[in-house]
Amino acid sequence: MSQFTGNHVLSVNQFDRDAIEKIFHVAHSMEPYARRQKRTTVLDGAILGNLFFEPSTRTRVSFGTAFNLLGGEVRETTGMSSSALAKGESLFDTARVLSGYSDIIAMRHPQAGSVAEFSEGSRVPVLNGGDGANEHPTQALLDLFTIKRELEYNGKQIDGLHIAMIGDLRYGRTVHSLSKLLCLYKNIHFTLISPKELAMPDNVISAIENAGHKLTVTNQIEGVVNADICYQTRIQEERFTSQAEANKYRGRFRLNQSIYTRHFQSKTVIMHPLPRDSRMEANELDNDLNSNPNLAIFRQADNGVLVRMALFALTLGVDDLVSKYEREVVWYTNKSQSL
Ligand code: NCD
Repeated sequence: MSQFTGNHVLSVNQFDRDAIEKIFHVAHSMEPYARRQKRTTVLDGAILGNLFFEPSTRTRVSFGTAFNLLGGEVRETTGMSSSALAKGESLFDTARVLSGYSDIIAMRHPQAGSVAEFSEGSRVPVLNGGDGANEHPTQALLDLFTIKRELEYNGKQIDGLHIAMIGDLRYGRTVHSLSKLLCLYKNIHFTLISPKELAMPDNVISAIENAGHKLTVTNQIEGVVNADICYQTRIQEERFTSQAEANKYRGRFRLNQSIYTRHFQSKTVIMHPLPRDSRMEANELDNDLNSNPNLAIFRQADNGVLVRMALFALTLGVDDLVSKYEREVVWYTNKSQSL
């Protein structure tokens, strides 16, 4: 039994550096299974309740894939209107019932604090897949895992990192959670680039300041000097009062190869939690960056499976048993190629 066994994952605030190292160590050990060099049935018979009450593609599917890769089964519900929440059922009741059908639950919901509220009624561990504009702890862990890996290629480490976060820092839950995790490291330089109206919330700014990190706040992409990581975000249009309001900001901070060459170092790693808004009026990460080797967005998305496998294995207390239940892979696969 580890500190993770049986516990919810609701916020990044529950982790310290040792816990993060442990998660990353287990995530790394999941690579042969994610790459189909081996398979494991350690979670044979276990059921994941994958409850997504808000749109999602990669978070939902990567939670499901991660559970399947460990040999477990996935039961899923998507959308609010097709669930009993639309009939007035409380989060507590839904949790009481669905936790009877599952061994673990992953959940996304549009309201801040909803996943924590749900967890109070749950009889099984609950992993927060995003609660409104509040937090997205598993994304932050996979982002940090990606940052660590990408920096290692460049001979650097997380301590001393300069990260530029760009776009909708007000409603973007991924940058809230990632910033808080980065506060655990040493000498981080945060350059926060957003329109004033979409600035990082005060509680995150205070966390950065209280941890003694360097902070640059600007509304100009020209303000970035020597960033190691450029973390681009999407305008979270679903959190605005109207489409017209969101449209005021879409396309404000586009990034393409020529802007990248002008404002970033030749090794600056480009990240984005995805989806990138590729419509003409937004085009926040242009397709001309696709051949840039520093574009890490698809490696980042792949890493989501490793980190979520690690969280499942740790939470269900099987992280030491994964290889004991190992089998051969017999089908054709070329997943060992790197992106
Ligand atoms: C993010 C989210 O849902 O917060 N996506 C994701 O989970 N990978 C970011 C976004 O939707 O813009």
